[in-house]
Amino acid sequence: MTETIQPAAILMDRINRDAWRTPDSVQWFAKLEGWTDAGERAALERIAAETTGLPILDLGVGGGRTVPLLRAISSDYIAIDYTPELVAACKERFPDVDVRCGDARDLSAFADQSFALVVFSFNGIDAVNPDDRMRILREAHRVLRKDGVLLFSTHNKLGPCHGERFQLGVYPTRNPFKLAWRLIRALARSLRTIANYRRYSRLNLRAEGYSIMNAAAHNHGILIHYITLERQCEQLAAVGFRPDPEIYGDLGEQFTSQRGDTSRTAWFHFLARKS
Ligand SMILES: C[S@@+](CC[C@H](N)C(=O)[O-])C[C@H]1O[C@@H](n2cnc3c(N)ncnc32)[C@H](O)[C@@H]1O
Repeated sequence: MTETIQPAAILMDRINRDAWRTPDSVQWFAKLEGWTDAGERAALERIAAETTGLPILDLGVGGGRTVPLLRAISSDYIAIDYTPELVAACKERFPDVDVRCGDARDLSAFADQSFALVVFSFNGIDAVNPDDRMRILREAHRVLRKDGVLLFSTHNKLGPCHGERFQLGVYPTRNPFKLAWRLIRALARSLRTIANYRRYSRLNLRAEGYSIMNAAAHNHGILIHYITLERQCEQLAAVGFRPDPEIYGDLGEQFTSQRGDTSRTAWFHFLARKS
C-alpha cells in the first residue's frame, strides 16, 4: 500500500485467520460442494477445455469444495491453505489428494512457470490486505506458464454486499422444543455477532477504488477487501497479466468492458492470462 498503513490492513490477517479456524467454520467449509454461483460455473467451464490434464494449483482450498471441480479438469492438482484445521479437514475428505499447508503470499515451494491454471476461489484473496493482495497476484503470475490463467473471485466495492449490516434471525418451526433450542442458540450467536460488529466495523476503511469492511459472514467476524472492476484490472496489468481479463459476475453475467454497470454484482470472477 502506498497510503499510510491503516489499522484494518494490519489487523485483518489475524482477525480472518481466527475466523477460518473456528470449529463452526471448519465444519461448514468441509460440507460445501458444487459451484458457489453461476459466474464461477461459467468461468470454470470457459477454462476447462484448454487446461484439461495440465497442472493446477488451488490456493485457499478450505474444506475442499473445489477439489472435485478442479480434479475433473486435471488430476495433476495441488492445493494449499494457510489454515491447518481446514487442511486437515480437506485431507480427511480427500485422502488421495495433494493438499498442503501453505500461504498464497509465498509460493516459493513452487518453481517459476509450473502451472497452467492457478485458482483462488470464493473470494479468498479478499482476506488479505492490499499489499499482500499484490504479493499474491505477483506470486500467481510467477508460477504460471506463459499463457497460463489465474482464476479468482473478489468482492465488488460497488455491489449489493458492500457495508453489510448485521441481521439476526431464527428459522421458524412448529416444534416447541426445537424452537426453544434454536432461540437459545440464536441468542448466543447474536451476542457474539453484536460484539464482533461493534469491534470490527470501527476498522472499516474506504479508499479510492477499494475498501476494507466488516462483513456479515462468520458472525461478523471477518474483515473483507472490496475492489472496483477498474482497480482490479489495473492491478492485474501492473503485475504483468494481459490487460483484457475475462470477467463474470456472480449472477453469471459477463463484463465485456471494464465499465459495465456492476451495481447488482456481489463479486466478480476474473480469468487473467499471463502474457
Ligand atoms: C472463503 S474460504 C474458501 C475456501 C474454499 N476455496 C471454498 O471455495 O470453499 C477462503 C479460504 O482461503 C484461505 N486463505 C485465505 N488467505 C490465505 C492465504 N494467504 N494463503 C492461503 N490460504 C488462504 C482460508 O484459510 C480459507 O480456507
